[in-house]
Amino acid sequence: MGRRHLEAEDIVRYEEDGPKVVLLDQRRLPDEEVELECRSVAEVVVAIRELAIRGAPAIGVAAAYALALADARGEDLDEAATLLTAARPTAVNLAWALGQMRDDPTPAHARALHEEEVERCRAMAAHAAELFAPGTRALTHCNAGALATGGYGSAVGALRTAWERGVLERVWVGETRPLLQGSRLTAWELETAGIPHAVIADSAAASLMAAGEVDCVVTGADRIAANGDTANKIGTYSLAVLARHHRVPFYVAAPFSTIDPALPSGEHIPIEERDPAEVRGVGGQQTAPAESPVFNPAFDVTSAALITAIITERGVFRPPYHFG
Ligand code: MRU
Repeated sequence: MGRRHLEAEDIVRYEEDGPKVVLLDQRRLPDEEVELECRSVAEVVVAIRELAIRGAPAIGVAAAYALALADARGEDLDEAATLLTAARPTAVNLAWALGQMRDDPTPAHARALHEEEVERCRAMAAHAAELFAPGTRALTHCNAGALATGGYGSAVGALRTAWERGVLERVWVGETRPLLQGSRLTAWELETAGIPHAVIADSAAASLMAAGEVDCVVTGADRIAANGDTANKIGTYSLAVLARHHRVPFYVAAPFSTIDPALPSGEHIPIEERDPAEVRGVGGQQTAPAESPVFNPAFDVTSAALITAIITERGVFRPPYHFG
């Protein structure tokens, strides 16, 4: 694997020739780097729903490009926005990005939103890296990297900046059952960036913390309520509980586009339930009897009380959270 950083347009872009939205198909990583071309809003909706592109800020960016595509094709913009918003219910960035695009649904505006999202990541990473002491061994969950934000990354962006500043020793990467965004995507990004890391089974986090091998946990977020309660990939809440028990700081890195001021607390955040087949099978191998019912919530909510700090592009927020 070559040592290179993903550019924003490698992850998702709009091409006038077509027109089309082109994205790196994250379902095929790390084995293959294959692009997917979407020539209609319906195709972008499928790409978002099936996780060809995923991660809260990145699906917001993809939705912005999709609205530009709808406009170019003369599709009904209200209908397009409704379909896109419904593609994944938990990440508020989808609705946020579409709201931003309404008055100017042009490719140039979508590109500007994309660039701003990446800049926000760089700014939050600089704030986050300040929290890392030299020699930090950080644990992360899911993928909150460049792939998830359209460039640079939120939690992984913080790790990148900390590594460049010489304060990060290594990263523990939770594999993130059931779809393995940690082992497939975060490990791929860290390997590509040359950052020392090791993939662990999600269930290994507790004993690693007990052994004093974890100095902080840093994750991204899909939606943050006004009081700081945070929805993120299923398993994040368990890590926050473990971190509190072991007195390990638990950090969330997310842009303001992930904060939903309309929701007073986390119990109001809609939690996406996904296809039971995702839990029932891994890599084509059956892991549960076909007759057994499966419950597959894609996200959980971590109470603000368990979060040491929320790092945004505007700085570091600590409890009690007021994002103003
Ligand atoms: O289901 P996914 O892969 O879209 O879930 C993504 C996450 O939970 C990320 O941690 C979150 O979107 C933050 S991305 C910067």
